[in-house]
Amino acid sequence: MDLTDRPRRLRRDGVRELVSETTLDASDLVAPVFVDATTDERVPITSMPGHERVPIEESVARVEEVRETGVETVMLFGIPTSKDDEGTRAWAEDGVVQEATRRITSETDVTVITDVCLCEYTEHGHCGILEEGVREHPDEACLTVDNDETLANLQQIAVSHAEAGADVVAPSGMMDGMVGAIRTALDDAGYEGVPIMSYAAKYESAFYGPFRDAADGAPAFGDRRHYQMDPANAREAVREVALDVEQGADLLMVKPALPYLDVVSAVDRNFDLPVAAYNVSGEYAMLHAASEKGWLDLEATAMESLLSIKRAGADVIVTYFAEDVADAL
Ligand code: PBG
Repeated sequence: MDLTDRPRRLRRDGVRELVSETTLDASDLVAPVFVDATTDERVPITSMPGHERVPIEESVARVEEVRETGVETVMLFGIPTSKDDEGTRAWAEDGVVQEATRRITSETDVTVITDVCLCEYTEHGHCGILEEGVREHPDEACLTVDNDETLANLQQIAVSHAEAGADVVAPSGMMDGMVGAIRTALDDAGYEGVPIMSYAAKYESAFYGPFRDAADGAPAFGDRRHYQMDPANAREAVREVALDVEQGADLLMVKPALPYLDVVSAVDRNFDLPVAAYNVSGEYAMLHAASEKGWLDLEATAMESLLSIKRAGADVIVTYFAEDVADAL
């Protein structure tokens, strides 16, 4: 036997760690937190074990729990007191996210990223103002989201979050021109220092199911395929992300993560901005469900998932596993 190539040499204990290419660090993880203005008690989210909706009163306590694990950043989602056609509670000064952000940023050192979207605030559950759309069927008028009308509302939401103290705003509605519109509005209001983490390539994914229960943001009719991306497309993602870069995005997010690692990798290779990936609710729920059945080891599969997302090129991971993984690190 004269084998010259023996890659196993580097897999020995002690050497393996030395040459490991990818590492997970608690400072790269972002924990989503749900604040609910309709409750005065914590409400567990059944499809996302370990997560709950917390009342505004408990938002600081909830974020302190996250901080104790070593995670330094949270992403805030709000469930408003009431919903209407336009989603006006999304930019109310005393809105749920504004109120929670004010408390968290004045009482803790945790970095707050806010979700800038309308689907949790509109009665119809879509991510903007509705308009009569193209006719999909000759007899039936179909409704879709009016892109340009919606931009003005997204501007108001982003500015109201910055006013409340948000460290980063994260528009997730997939409206064309949203990053540029929000950048202009923030700058005009004197918030030129607030970065935009754009959900630059967000797919119309069935993996959002548990989140829509958690945040009560499922569309009342239809789906989001007129604005979120088609899972079939990867080249389009590069075009879509380039637009956000031109418009002034500071961080680029791909969502979901695991089924779209090719897209994470493409965004990492094509752009020189930090890349974030959102390990979404369905990716979390499926590991929990399988581990409850005794079919998978939860901690090991969670670690491997996050490591893979980093290996693909993500610098930042938004994940419901943040606290558990940070604790284990
Ligand atoms: C929209 C938004 C969604 C998620 C984050 N922001 C839902 C959607 O687009 O339907 C999903 C996150 C997840 O599934 O974990 N505001």
